[in-house]
Amino acid sequence: PHPHTTDTVPAVPVVDITATGPGRTPIQQIMELMREHGPVLVRRLHGRDALFVSDLDLVADLADEKRFAKHIGPALENVREFAADGLFTAYNDEPNWSKAHDILMPAFALGSLRTYHPVMLKVARRLIASWDREARAGRPVDVPADMTRMTLDTIGLAGFDHDFGSFERAEPHPFVESMVRCLEWAMTRLARVPGQDHSAADAAFRDDAAYLAQVVDDVIAARAGTDQTGAQDLLGLMLGARHPADGTTLDPANIRNQVITFLIAGHETTSGAMSFALYYLAKHPTVLRLVQREADALWGSAADPEPTYDEVGRLTYTRQVLNEALRLWPTAAAFSRHAVEDTLLGGRIPVRAGQGITVLAPMLHRQPVWGDNPELFDPSRFTPEAEAARPVHAFKPFGTGERACIGRQFALHEATMLLAMLVHRYRLHDHADYRLDVKETLTLKPEGFTLALTPRTAAD
Ligand code: HEM
Repeated sequence: PHPHTTDTVPAVPVVDITATGPGRTPIQQIMELMREHGPVLVRRLHGRDALFVSDLDLVADLADEKRFAKHIGPALENVREFAADGLFTAYNDEPNWSKAHDILMPAFALGSLRTYHPVMLKVARRLIASWDREARAGRPVDVPADMTRMTLDTIGLAGFDHDFGSFERAEPHPFVESMVRCLEWAMTRLARVPGQDHSAADAAFRDDAAYLAQVVDDVIAARAGTDQTGAQDLLGLMLGARHPADGTTLDPANIRNQVITFLIAGHETTSGAMSFALYYLAKHPTVLRLVQREADALWGSAADPEPTYDEVGRLTYTRQVLNEALRLWPTAAAFSRHAVEDTLLGGRIPVRAGQGITVLAPMLHRQPVWGDNPELFDPSRFTPEAEAARPVHAFKPFGTGERACIGRQFALHEATMLLAMLVHRYRLHDHADYRLDVKETLTLKPEGFTLALTPRTAAD
């Protein structure tokens, strides 16, 4: 008998959402379905089934690299339409994945992170200059919009020596607008009702994708032909470094795909993570106080502190706050795996070789292993003792295994430093009594979140 039908193995619930479709918030829809039906379910849409899991033991099993591997599911297939064989969307066995991975890994080693620190600081100062102006004028700031300016400028300068100059623009850089529309197209394409005409949306998408490629080609052209010896940033490595195994460099088409990939992966999720962290700080004055105390211990009442690389490593409580924000709202909320061979997932759910299984991180991060009040924002969940006591696979905001996030330390360094600098400088006022509204464009952001700022005084 099929294991689904035996008495000892309870059937996985099948939830048909064809009547409503996934809508514009598919992640939050699955979160709701899991609250109702439990942490394992099959979502059926127009007769197509997709298995979603957030049970700790199943996620731990999926992390077994011998039996499971990254899966390029329908969402990433859509992203492949504009990022192709870039690192994020490459198939595991595509030769350019391991080639680019080997060539680019040194750019994310600890020694390289140090070299990005001055650029990160420079862009953090741009943000602060902009927030100082708004604070003086008594105008609130649009948090996700400004976090996006800051992360785009940072990855542009650190990775490619290209300045997007986002803080000199009233509107987001057109690259960001095109990119967000491409991500939205990749997401909403999944919700299409068969038989309808989508040619207008597809044509608009192709224009946006062509624009992204053109921006990137300009960035590459500015560097190509110049001597890249000793250039250790991402583009320098891509143009100059030879693969240790076969001595070849990355081909031009692949370099373009990598630059698009890094410009997107390198800023969109980090910006959301910092926005959620600021949201929780604005709502939790006691936690805010502790982050301020940590920053004050390093920089006292200095008006313009000069954070060093090593100091950022000492901002351990600030880092806990960021982790806790990523627990509740992991901004790249889902990743997919497939079985290498037919197997029983977690010893109980039969899966076929190649079948996609999607981990829903926001629900994994609310499983019983997180205690009785998983919705509660509590950075003490990330003290070293608490982390050591918890199973390793309980927290997965950066994916898993060899296809996990290459930019994790980059993101954490950038975000930790900025958060500490901001709370050191400003009092945050939740002037609009903001109600969390999570916008989905494949990634997650707190939509419409604004803060009013005043400078801190010695008495604060
Ligand atoms: C992969 C999350 C920041 C570059 C991933 C994956 C996740 C993730 C979940 C795995 C996706 C999968 O398995 O399908 C995040 C989050 C970030 C962040 C939450 C910020 C808080 C960054 C940054 C960069 C970056 C700053 C670059 C500077 C990449 C790349 C991959 C990746 C290139 C693909 C790696 C590969 O498959 O070889 N990220 N990321 N990410 N990330 Fe990040």
